[in-house]
Amino acid sequence: MMDNKYLVEVQNLQQYFPVAGSKLFEKKVVKAVDNVSFGIKKGETLGLVGESGCGKTTTGRTLLRLYEPTSGKIFFDGQDITKVNMLPYRQKMQIVFQDPYASLDPRMTVGDIIGEAIDIHHLAASKKDRQDQIISVLSTVGLNSEHANRYPHEFSGGQRQRVGIARALAVNPQFIVCDEPVSALDVSIQAQVVNMFEKLQEEMGLTYLFIAHDLSIVKHISNRIGVMYLGKMVELADSYELTFHSVHPYTKSLISAIPIADPETSRKSKRIVLEGDVPSPVNPPSGCRFRTRCPYADELCAAQEPEWKEVSTGHYAACHHLDKVN
Ligand SMILES: Nc1ncnc2c1ncn2[C@@H]1O[C@H](COP(=O)(O)OP(=O)(O)O)[C@@H](O)[C@H]1O
Ligand SMILES: [Mg+2]
Repeated sequence: MMDNKYLVEVQNLQQYFPVAGSKLFEKKVVKAVDNVSFGIKKGETLGLVGESGCGKTTTGRTLLRLYEPTSGKIFFDGQDITKVNMLPYRQKMQIVFQDPYASLDPRMTVGDIIGEAIDIHHLAASKKDRQDQIISVLSTVGLNSEHANRYPHEFSGGQRQRVGIARALAVNPQFIVCDEPVSALDVSIQAQVVNMFEKLQEEMGLTYLFIAHDLSIVKHISNRIGVMYLGKMVELADSYELTFHSVHPYTKSLISAIPIADPETSRKSKRIVLEGDVPSPVNPPSGCRFRTRCPYADELCAAQEPEWKEVSTGHYAACHHLDKVN
């Protein structure tokens, strides 16, 4: 049974994609997410960070069952939703996509985009009620009734992302996967949009999985942060703890990479600069997947996968050499 303090929980979540063009007898797969477990408490924001390609989007989409999991379990509010009909849960669990340009149908007006979400879940009692709801949710995200008649291309990137957020909010969700919702936006408006997510959370009691490749974006908005590397979760802790007392060499390298704009964070951590590229998730390294880029790696790391351990209360990490690293 799932732990009831979590609104959303995944246990040993696995998502393997078949490799296009691989021969039947080879059965090559991309191990995009491999045995990942975490929970998100009601009302909290769990940040999820890691380099591009490490499996963040796949984790977010699989826990919404936009992709069917290869294995593992998914729980929402105490219910095992791994195999159920998702329609009732689609209303409760929404997503805001990374790319506000690609995620809005260019042939639909903003009013229709939001109205469609309302219709799918039969949330409007009448035409007038539907229109009122559309206008109300537009105002929630800082747009107005005139915007309802316009098309996505008439908006700036930041406004388009507000439309994407309005579409998610229109069905009164409890949980939103925010998949790098500000990565495609100008730096100058990223903070505005992040602040809006925070305000919406306070007002509506929302729970977020907030994905970013950059730790500096999530550390303010997140209560806790999980770090992924090549399909695995390598460290998970309270946001402050993770920022100032990370124990995993990969997390330390991410923190080292935060530019001088945030000198406090980078100064307190031992500097680790990674060399080389992330290996392929089709053929990940044996043992610890991070070992090929880890300055502390030895034979043990090649031979055996490190255990996911609680290193202090609520602080988890998977590394054979925590003593050496810290
Ligand atoms: N639909 C898919 N089919 C096949 N491979 C995929 C698919 N989606 C993602 N991948 C692969 O899975 C890995 C993780 O991708 P993704 O979850 O998008 O990472 P992130 O969001 O962290 O950048 C990558 O190697 C990516 O190429
Ligand atoms: Mg992604």
